[in-house]
Amino acid sequence: MRKFFWMEGVRVYAFDKIDSTNSEAVRRIKSGVKLPALFIADSQTAGKGTRGRSFYSDGGGLYMSLAVNADETRIQRLTVLAAVAVAQSIEKLTGKTVGIKWVNDVYLNGKKLCGILCERVADPISGKTLGVVIGIGINLFVKDFPDEIKDIAVSLNSKGVTAKILSCEITNRILKLLSGEEDFMQYYKEKSVLLGREVCYVKDGKQYTGIARDIDDSGALVVEDSDRFTAILSSGDVMLLK
Ligand code: BTN
Repeated sequence: MRKFFWMEGVRVYAFDKIDSTNSEAVRRIKSGVKLPALFIADSQTAGKGTRGRSFYSDGGGLYMSLAVNADETRIQRLTVLAAVAVAQSIEKLTGKTVGIKWVNDVYLNGKKLCGILCERVADPISGKTLGVVIGIGINLFVKDFPDEIKDIAVSLNSKGVTAKILSCEITNRILKLLSGEEDFMQYYKEKSVLLGREVCYVKDGKQYTGIARDIDDSGALVVEDSDRFTAILSSGDVMLLK
């Protein structure tokens, strides 16, 4: 662990390399770290993505996990909140326009720039929430993506927008949004790359298509199929068709 920077009211733990900042945040919450706490690394050896996937974290990115004591423990809504904080921070610092792909991806020029993985940490006996982890991975200056993602991933490549600057901005925005001062759902919908578009999704092993109509207050995606049947998707992969 190394000294990185200081943020008012937030403990910062910085690492050159770690298995996963999310895993570290979970470990520290379980051992009673004071919250909020920010875990940040230059690279991760076991970066975690959603649904048990891995997240490419070899360096050149911002890998951060903010551990908070939040009332908001609905993971989906927390992911929506984090996506808004990321999108607003990037647009403010770079002037670039980004989009949000439900539920946890931020896109730039039609490619994935950022992934978000939120986790709730509970006491194993009482089930009580000990804290929540908001994990964010952003490709800042990644030069060589591995073959399997090189056509779908993109780097920010904004001179002067470093991991330090961006992580501070995002952290402050997340904490502000968590305080409930601002409505973030409307912004999320405006930035959504899915709403009003034809999408395809898999539910109970079956593939469906429909039009993405709305994102409800819990952060679930509302999809209407050709028979006007409405599906409320709380998780899973949704693909854009056209
Ligand atoms: C996804 O796109 O599937 C979510 C990716 C989340 C990656 C970030 S990087 C920082 C934090 N630590 C992890 O192990 N994962 C998250």
